[in-house]
Amino acid sequence: MLKTTHCGKLRREDVGTRVVLAGWVHRWRDHGGLIFLDLRDRSGLVQVVFNADVNEEAHRRAAETRNEYVVQVEGVVGLRPEGLINPNLETGEVEVSADRLVVLNPSKTTPFAINEEGEVGDTLRLKYRYLDLRRQRMQRNIVLRHRVTTYMRNYLDRQDFVEIETPILLKSTPEGARDFIVPSRLQPGKFYALPQSPQQVKQLLMVAGFERYFQIARCFRDEDLRADRQLEFTQLDLEMSFVDSQDVRKLIEGLVTGLFEEIGGKRLQQKPLPVLSYADAMDRYGSDKPDLRFGLEFANLTDLLAGSGFGVFSQAAAAGGQIKAVRAPGCAGYSRKQIDDLAEEAKRHGAKGLATLKVEEGALHGPIAKFLTEAEMEGIRQRCQVENGDLILIVADAPAVVAEALGSLRLVIGQRLGLMAPDVLACAWVIDFPLLEWNTDEKRWQAMHHPFTSARDQDWRLLDTDPGAALAKAYDLVCNGMEIGGGSIRIHDQELQGKMFAALGMSPAEAQDQFGHLLEAFQYGAPPHGGIALGLDRITAILADEASIREVIAFPKTASATDLMLNSPSPVSARQLTDLHITTAE
Ligand code: AMO
Ligand code: AMP
Repeated sequence: MLKTTHCGKLRREDVGTRVVLAGWVHRWRDHGGLIFLDLRDRSGLVQVVFNADVNEEAHRRAAETRNEYVVQVEGVVGLRPEGLINPNLETGEVEVSADRLVVLNPSKTTPFAINEEGEVGDTLRLKYRYLDLRRQRMQRNIVLRHRVTTYMRNYLDRQDFVEIETPILLKSTPEGARDFIVPSRLQPGKFYALPQSPQQVKQLLMVAGFERYFQIARCFRDEDLRADRQLEFTQLDLEMSFVDSQDVRKLIEGLVTGLFEEIGGKRLQQKPLPVLSYADAMDRYGSDKPDLRFGLEFANLTDLLAGSGFGVFSQAAAAGGQIKAVRAPGCAGYSRKQIDDLAEEAKRHGAKGLATLKVEEGALHGPIAKFLTEAEMEGIRQRCQVENGDLILIVADAPAVVAEALGSLRLVIGQRLGLMAPDVLACAWVIDFPLLEWNTDEKRWQAMHHPFTSARDQDWRLLDTDPGAALAKAYDLVCNGMEIGGGSIRIHDQELQGKMFAALGMSPAEAQDQFGHLLEAFQYGAPPHGGIALGLDRITAILADEASIREVIAFPKTASATDLMLNSPSPVSARQLTDLHITTAE
């Protein structure tokens, strides 16, 4: 190698050793006869000193280097003088007294400083991603990601899992998002689709008898990008045969607790992980991915206020809606403007309005107080477990709207009051999801997880009578208000799979056309099976304390789905299009 050791490795024990180092000039200071140069490689930094009296030529060459030059340096490790020890640097006790320097490659002035962690605009960071990745924060994140996948691989290998690659050129499958499709040159007019997930092929691997499969799988979904969503992202995808939900959850619980604690150095709020039903999560937090770092659970006031003199409440209840409240502790002093802002937040999430009550000296005050009887007020005090100084936020509407609006207010309050401790991970399982949900636009049932998820055994019969009431053998893993994984026990019976497709409004011919491979495979001894996929990017972002998964992906896309470094997507030649039998509309 062009170096005998790494910059960040040098310690007091190395004093007196002759070393050759290679790396980047992190920063330099010219003190006339002495030049101090911080040399950086992946392992860290070390100070290198060039003394004109020791070696004139090396000193002259050092004077010509600039930040981010790639250099090779040779010298002897020495102890720094007493007062010059830098306790903030791992190599802070030593420095290398150099007598040789070779410039391996110069560097233009970089568009932003590599040696500072200061804020740099996203556009510049993504255009020069290779320079951004050179910075300490990104080096740390990408190496952490490697440690996460290594931990996963080792854990699953010990549990007898086999890592199997599945095709990237796959067939269009219904996972809820839009597919990316790839034209075929050899089959004019036909297309492959990139996998939204390897769902069907991993099930076929169970029919193939592998029993335990996993893959660090790249998935592609053409959906709108957000902080926790990319067009292409990575799952830890796995599937197991002869298991029930608890088996899958137990395996994953062992994996994520080990990962969070050992690799992330994080503390889990509760172990074993709490398990909530979907109904419970929606009822208490208005979300199927509740942030459980804090309480502030909803109080249900529907029966209490159904006959209220306040028309908004009684009308909502009469229409089959709900009236629910959440406490904002210590917020009774909120100004008119602050309360209006909360009402705006509720309206952005579909509510028609927000009713508020202040708790002062045990009494409830506010514009709606005059409509409430003493018994109703007492009921509110009890159900909300109010304390003096609380602001009570009440929304009345259809259950889905109440959940959405009050759920978002709960998060706003949690944020404002600093209840979302950054160093605690509140993970939980959410189970017993509905099997189906009603698609109001298309006026049909659709699978809440995916069409291969099994109903609970006792719920299959509901598909004929009350499809919306059937619950699924599905489970999501949530952490600090984020969905970090989801899976289910699958249907392995051809007839039940057919029944499911029918419930989704598919004719037998359509089912055969789209899913014939699966229906056929189920006729050749398909074992009972189930699995899960974890969002690797999201998990790594949590461990890296990053708000966006972009910070843990080496080459991510922008919010408008472009790669600023490679300039993609980009036009292709007419020749390529002709070969692919494609014409484009203007
Ligand atoms: P699901 O669609 O729930 O399940 O995805 C599993 C997990 O993947 C992560 N995830 C994403 N991460 C980043 N960007 C995205 N666009 C994105 N979409 C999803 C989430 C999510 O929990 N085949 C099933 C799994 C199974 O049933 O085994 C599936 O893909 O963390
Ligand atoms: P209004 O009847 O529109 O004048 O509203 C009277 C009060 O009730 C205002 O403070 C509204 O914000 C509030 N309000 C209106 N609709 C709702 C609702 N669906 N849930 C809770 N409060 C509401």
